[in-house]
Amino acid sequence: MFLLDRWYVAAWPEEVTQQPLARTFCDEPVVLFRGTSGSVTALEDRCCHRNLPLSQGKVDGDCLACGYHGMVYDARGICVRIPGQSMIPKNACVRSYPVQERDGLVWIWLGDAGRAGQSQPASYPFHADPRWAHRTSRYLIAGHHELINDNLIDLSHVGYVHGKTIGGTPAAHSEAQLEVQRSADGVVVRRWMPDTLPPPTYQRTYGFAGRIDRWMEIAFVPGLVQIYIGANDAGKGFDQDGRMDALGIRIFNGITPESAGSTHYFWSAAHNFKVDDAAITQAFFNEIAATFAEDKVVIEAQQERFDRFPNRANVALQSDAGGVHARRVIAEAIRRQESPVAA
Ligand code: FES
Ligand SMILES: [Fe+2]
Repeated sequence: MFLLDRWYVAAWPEEVTQQPLARTFCDEPVVLFRGTSGSVTALEDRCCHRNLPLSQGKVDGDCLACGYHGMVYDARGICVRIPGQSMIPKNACVRSYPVQERDGLVWIWLGDAGRAGQSQPASYPFHADPRWAHRTSRYLIAGHHELINDNLIDLSHVGYVHGKTIGGTPAAHSEAQLEVQRSADGVVVRRWMPDTLPPPTYQRTYGFAGRIDRWMEIAFVPGLVQIYIGANDAGKGFDQDGRMDALGIRIFNGITPESAGSTHYFWSAAHNFKVDDAAITQAFFNEIAATFAEDKVVIEAQQERFDRFPNRANVALQSDAGGVHARRVIAEAIRRQESPVAA
């Protein structure tokens, strides 16, 4: 069962054009398109006439015309025209999903549309703030979304999996000072790594030469993990607001289930240094893209083993605390979604 009462990332804005985009979220086939007015619409990807996916049709103004017999649906999913027939049956409609385009992201609400107004997508200013430079990407990962949550929330893997980029010394990551807190809607994990070697990515893009103090804050809510990272020359001290960071990194991780075994992973990497140097932004992006490609390999290999050995128990370590909380947060939210009060 999926948590549907949630704003999930559906796409990057540039992915949604007048060419219909077919995407599955939480096992539901959806078609996204941008009308000629510029507005984004998300409809059920199934014509109510004979089930052709509407993503095989054509955008017509702010409507979508089915590619089989030409029925035209508006942004509400209501059929407004049937070629060769003036009478439009009352039930000639498909499901329409609430969508919002903000902060350089397209968000979709997959649950009951009547409850979409109860919350808003998280705000994310770093895609538009000139003090930050960023690039975006999307990976389709053949793994359950909670494996991606685990991976991002427990960064003790960084020294083992990402030695060539953001890792550095495994022991420095395993021995990081750790704090795990439940937030109103999720979990926040903070890690401090004083007086450690700068990882290769920081050396190549920022240029640290000596040892550094490094901190990380990982804020999880269902569907989204925001990672804030700061670093400075060792001894300069930590400042959780980032004011003292020489190097600042912000990683956006939109985690939208496609199915029980696959997940859309929308990520962006922003940096606060040398923001006018496009070559540095590209180099930094390449480093993070390689890092997340390493995570993808790990998660897909885990999923293969989970599928083969579904009943074998796993051992929990202290560093799993954040991921365990995240699972509880999702389970509690699904219980609320299914409760008669929510309905
Ligand atoms: S299947 Fe869409 S109009 Fe016939
Ligand atoms: Fe990783």
